[in-house]
Amino acid sequence: MGFFDFMTEDIAIDLGTANTLIIHDGKVCVDQPSIVAKDIATGKIIAIGKEANMMQGKTHGSIQTIRPLKDGVIADFEASEQMIKEFIKNIPTIKKKFWTPSLRMVICIPSGITEVEKRAVRDSAEHMNAKEIYLIHEPMAAAIGIGIDITQPKGNMIIDIGGGTTEIAVIALGGIVCDKSVKVAGDVFTNDISYYMRTQHNLHIGERTAEVVKIEIGAATEDLDNPPEEMLVQGRDLLSGKPKQAQVSYREIAKALDKSILRIEDAVMETLSQTPPELAADIYNTGIYLAGGGSMLRGLDKRLSRKTDLPVYVAEDPLRAVVRGTGITLKDLEKYKTVLLK
Ligand SMILES: Nc1ncnc2c1ncn2[C@@H]1O[C@H](COP(=O)(O)OP(=O)(O)O)[C@@H](O)[C@H]1O
Ligand SMILES: [Mg+2]
Repeated sequence: MGFFDFMTEDIAIDLGTANTLIIHDGKVCVDQPSIVAKDIATGKIIAIGKEANMMQGKTHGSIQTIRPLKDGVIADFEASEQMIKEFIKNIPTIKKKFWTPSLRMVICIPSGITEVEKRAVRDSAEHMNAKEIYLIHEPMAAAIGIGIDITQPKGNMIIDIGGGTTEIAVIALGGIVCDKSVKVAGDVFTNDISYYMRTQHNLHIGERTAEVVKIEIGAATEDLDNPPEEMLVQGRDLLSGKPKQAQVSYREIAKALDKSILRIEDAVMETLSQTPPELAADIYNTGIYLAGGGSMLRGLDKRLSRKTDLPVYVAEDPLRAVVRGTGITLKDLEKYKTVLLK
């Protein structure tokens, strides 16, 4: 431990397209939607996270809500930097300090991001007074968070279904052997539901409502063990323009999502077909692990299991698997140095 270590704070960040999570002092101290609300005239940030999320779809001309990481890429560098800065500044133990502590950070990034975006993430971290910065790929962090010993000469398949992307990876000996990233995940499911409501029920619903429908009665298959009850969905009638509600069942949502889930299935099959045979043999025994919020869609594990003929397990607390893994590497940088990108 160096003399100035007491002035350094360790921080692990999962910078997700839907949610940003931060671990500090071994605890998840930030778990917020990746959203900022901006005053268009002045460019000033007026709200971030949950508070900005509440404003979504309800803003007037001078306020804009932005998801800086939409579609699995950093769409707005400035907004994402400001967002992380605010999140970190508001961590209680850091807020109390009289000085700006220097930071040691491990940041989890989608495996599909470009070199330019990686550079931008680093630059942002440096602007926040980070002295040591490590990046880690999302599926690797998810695997560690699930509790898999990634250093073993044993293949494991991880599928992380987030907001913007689904990341599929086969991991062995501390490295990613083959991977695939598709831009079909939670956001696309939400859009599918909006589209279905518009075309089948003549009902125009907002993005937040569509997400609630997905969480309440969303399903990947009509063949569920514990099907949810029908739900009343409110929005605006496309023909009359009046507010209206419609009754919707999980079966309808399963139909609405079918095409998107097929695309995920295809990507999984393709990744399996590219897996070297020795690792395929391992995966036959260990099965597939799911993480990310999208993996909580009802029946998705069952459907993938039927498609691949493999056991499929959803991680415990799938929304936090990635940040948990990122936090574990932060505690033992030496052990994980091969998976961290300096
Ligand atoms: N119970 C649920 N059923 C289906 N989807 C869910 C559920 N809970 C959260 N989600 C979805 O998970 C996605 C967010 O997952 P997350 O892993 O945080 O994404 P990211 O890593 O991209 O930030 C969102 O699209 C959200 O709607
Ligand atoms: Mg994620």
